[in-house]
Amino acid sequence: MDLDLFARPRRNRKNPAIRALVRETSLRPDQLVMPCFVREGKGISEPILSMPGIARHTIDRLVEEARTWHSLGLQGIAPFPVTSESQKDATASLADQDDNLFHTAVRAVKDAVPGLQIFTDVALDPYTDHGHDGLLSPDGRILNDETVEVLCRMAVAQARAGADFVAPSDMMDGRVGAIRAALDAEGFQDTGILAYSAKYASAFYGPFRDALSSAPKAGDKKTYQMDPANRREARREAQLDEAEGADILMVKPALAYLDILSDLRQITDLPLCAYHVSGEYAMLQAAARNGWLDYDRTLLESLVSIRRAGADFVLTYGAADAAKLLG
Ligand code: PBG
Repeated sequence: MDLDLFARPRRNRKNPAIRALVRETSLRPDQLVMPCFVREGKGISEPILSMPGIARHTIDRLVEEARTWHSLGLQGIAPFPVTSESQKDATASLADQDDNLFHTAVRAVKDAVPGLQIFTDVALDPYTDHGHDGLLSPDGRILNDETVEVLCRMAVAQARAGADFVAPSDMMDGRVGAIRAALDAEGFQDTGILAYSAKYASAFYGPFRDALSSAPKAGDKKTYQMDPANRREARREAQLDEAEGADILMVKPALAYLDILSDLRQITDLPLCAYHVSGEYAMLQAAARNGWLDYDRTLLESLVSIRRAGADFVLTYGAADAAKLLG
């Protein structure tokens, strides 16, 4: 029998009901996490020009937003602090202070919306005057093990403030195991680790660095973030993070790295997430604002594609928009 003569795949697409029944990938608000920015002050939501629709919120405003996001069905946020230049220094002294802006914000959101999971970023770049994620040697190298010590203190401070998961995004070697040991030693066995396992040295982080004024003053992040040309290396990073005790693994950015997500889906049974980053969001907004793309539809198509490639959940600046669209 010549199968081609009989094959009619369109039968399974002929109306919305059958399309729903055979749909392979779901996209729900509870699979989305909202990254967000917190700044000093009161009553202010300051728009970020390169990320239309996204703002730097003061703590009171962030708490209100968090309530709204939770009521839309989002189950998590990933907050980042905007630190004034005068508070940044070479060693990121502010990073592990219990009463800094960031930890105060985490405590306030946790108090107000306890069910919302808080994923806190562990990396030095919001606090360093040079903009790097780690400590710098006098000759401009990133010091791995010295940085890991600061990251451990930072992760413990975040756990103390109420973080549900700490999320090391710095790409130092050995940080997941060291952070796990530090959390356990302080009694934070229930605080998880979401490891940015395959984080690439990407130009798609541009708008995020505008939002935090955190672009490196000199050099780039290529000695710690991964080379976009590498695929096998992502498997190795993921295997190391899993062995060191990570609870969830991440691929970042998302759309240009769907092959990486799909690879990691094959080799780990841990939950996987992807970060649909600032530049990916900005592209959709920019095209939509020019009338060139339909934002709602391209957003949902992007997110379902990231899910299809293997992500259990997605960090996206479009989380609240998508949750509204999904109803
Ligand atoms: C910092 C960090 C960055 C992002 C998340 N955490 C920027 C960077 O590595 O330079 C980028 C997120 C985005 O672009 O949305 N460690």
